Amino acid sequence: NKKIAIAIDGPAAAGKSTVAKKVAEQLKYTYIDTGAMYRAVTYLALRQGVNLASEEALAKIVELIELELSHTENGQRVRVNGKDVTEEIRSDEVTQNVSEVAAHGVVREALVKQQRLMAEKRGVVMDGRDIGTHVIPDAEIKIFMIASVEERAERRYNENKAKGFEPDLDQLKDEIRKRDQHDQERIVSPLIKADDAIELDTTSMSIEQVTELILEIIQEKV
Ligand code: C5P
Repeated sequence: NKKIAIAIDGPAAAGKSTVAKKVAEQLKYTYIDTGAMYRAVTYLALRQGVNLASEEALAKIVELIELELSHTENGQRVRVNGKDVTEEIRSDEVTQNVSEVAAHGVVREALVKQQRLMAEKRGVVMDGRDIGTHVIPDAEIKIFMIASVEERAERRYNENKAKGFEPDLDQLKDEIRKRDQHDQERIVSPLIKADDAIELDTTSMSIEQVTELILEIIQEKV
């Protein structure tokens, strides 16, 4: 079987990573979470206390950063300058600032370059915002996953609750809306469905149903 590239894009908290991971597992492909890369840059920028509006400061950060993704049985791990930051990049602080950092062309250029190298040999399921439009425009399969804001906030709410937090549903809705707006309105490769992507509205679907559907789409195409 010929190896292909599968691009999964969509707004925040639409279930992309959960589903992408499962699809990759089934196909024995590598799952690549590109959001984690933008989060890692944001984490370092926050730690260094740089002005997130400054293209120049961020240019320096991406020039010097050593960003490593490794793929283990427990999923993708992320290292920044040798330190494992897999958990840290999920913090509220990073989540609330990542869209600002990701809007900078200089940051995107550096990360997209790495992402294209990882996709070159195919056998990847890559999720993000601009994979089908910009990172792998010739991906064999493109999925654009959407779900209502209410549903996405509820999924995040349950996830956070299960982790032992006391989440606030309205706050989650606000954050999701804000992040989507920021990602859709940026000038450099904004969040948008590629013309040739298949749109899946997962609002009333389970993770298993979405995974099955995507695997069927892949089987039909390959
Ligand atoms: O997918 P995740 O929620 O982890 O992504 C975090 C943020 O990283 C997004 O809100 C977006 O600002 C940015 N991102 C991006 N392009 C990608 C992946 C993520 O701009 N391909």
